[in-house]
Amino acid sequence: MTTTTRRGLPRGAEERVAELYWEAFGGKLGAALGPAGTGRRFIAEHLNADRGVTALSDDGRVVGVAGFQLAGRGLVGGDAAAVRATYGQVRGMWRLFLLALLERTPARGELVMDGIAVDAGERGRGIGGLLLREIEAVAVEQGCRRIRLDVVAENRRAQALYERHGFRAVAVHRTPWLRDVLGFGAVTTMHKAVAR
Ligand SMILES: CC(C)(COP(=O)(O)OP(=O)(O)OC[C@H]1O[C@@H](n2cnc3c(N)ncnc32)[C@H](O)[C@@H]1OP(=O)(O)O)[C@@H](O)C(=O)NCCC(=O)NCCS
Repeated sequence: MTTTTRRGLPRGAEERVAELYWEAFGGKLGAALGPAGTGRRFIAEHLNADRGVTALSDDGRVVGVAGFQLAGRGLVGGDAAAVRATYGQVRGMWRLFLLALLERTPARGELVMDGIAVDAGERGRGIGGLLLREIEAVAVEQGCRRIRLDVVAENRRAQALYERHGFRAVAVHRTPWLRDVLGFGAVTTMHKAVAR
């Protein structure tokens, strides 16, 4: 199978992208957007198609996706009103609080990668690397000077992948009090300078 990457999400692929995101990040997003069916639907309905890059198999199936934050918008949108409409006023408040904890605001000149997910059956074949290259091409086009990402500190394999692609760890943020709620207690921030 050959894999190609492209900017944006193909039209009609919203549910597939939401499925990939949930498969990869359901543990992390579950507290804020769960249960799974509701969370996947919320993601599918609030995707910003121009804030992602995708990997496609020969037959056009989306096998990987990577999102990014730029100019105040990321791959998964949905404002406070959308969260309340889906989850209700009271439950919505708690979810908004958790989503705020996951929020990553880019600094000036920075493109923040929002999460990268490859189909579990297709991992280890270079698709993650292809998506990273596509993200880098977006950063160059947008005139960004660096790419930032935050990765769960225990996710050593993903960190190794980022290091092979030129990212360097610059800080570790520990929030052990959030471990029971979000499922992780520390994130590593990594940077890669963008050649212009
Ligand atoms: C991380 C991820 C996107 C890598 O995609 P990929 O297509 O497997 O990446 P590549 O084939 O280009 O590179 C493979 C490398 O990815 C890393 N990797 C991380 N998790 C992996 C997994 N579950 N399976 C295979 N490789 C994984 C390893 O460094 C691996 O190299 P190794 O085989 O020498 O250990 C993918 O494993 C995934 O979707 N994981 C779940 C979501 C996640 O953890 N995202 C990153 C946090 S933001």
